[in-house]
Amino acid sequence: MVRRVLFFLGVLGLFPIFSSPLRAQQPKPNNPLTDTQKEGRRIFQQRCAVCHTPPTVIAKRYGPALYKEIVEDNEDTIRDTILEGREALMPGFKYGLTRPEIDSIIEYLKTVKRPSSRPNNNQPADNPEQSSGGETN
Ligand code: HEC
Repeated sequence: MVRRVLFFLGVLGLFPIFSSPLRAQQPKPNNPLTDTQKEGRRIFQQRCAVCHTPPTVIAKRYGPALYKEIVEDNEDTIRDTILEGREALMPGFKYGLTRPEIDSIIEYLKTVKRPSSRPNNNQPADNPEQSSGGETN
């Protein structure tokens, strides 16, 4: 009986359900962020991550994934979206964030890698850093 309980606990321990969804969009530690990018990451995690991080077992993602390729060469549109929001879908932040704060978020997003697999709402896209270089860009 005790053994069974231990086994059960062991099985539970293998499930990464409780691993933080916020970690998924952080770049590798050997790829240090500038202070601006760190600031942007902090703000992003506070204000945006609730809708813009990959879905987990327990929570769907509400907004689209945001990463480098979306932001690069598109900064004005991105800044506009952040300022104005998207009607009925995303709040605007023009009164909630300063211009430098928004710029730091954009700088941070430029360091975020595209999730390796197209996240599917049933699957935790927990490990975007794991691809072994076979990514198509
Ligand atoms: C309430 C949920 C929510 C929050 C909070 C939120 N967003 Fe969004 N965001 C969305 C949704 C939903 C969309 C897609 C809107 C659409 O399809 O038109 C979106 C779209 C975007 C886009 C456009 C992506 C594209 O490909 O055009 C950007 C950029 C963006 N959000 C950035 C941010 C940033 C930065 C923050 C934090 C300051 C933030 N969002 C906070 C829900 C949210």
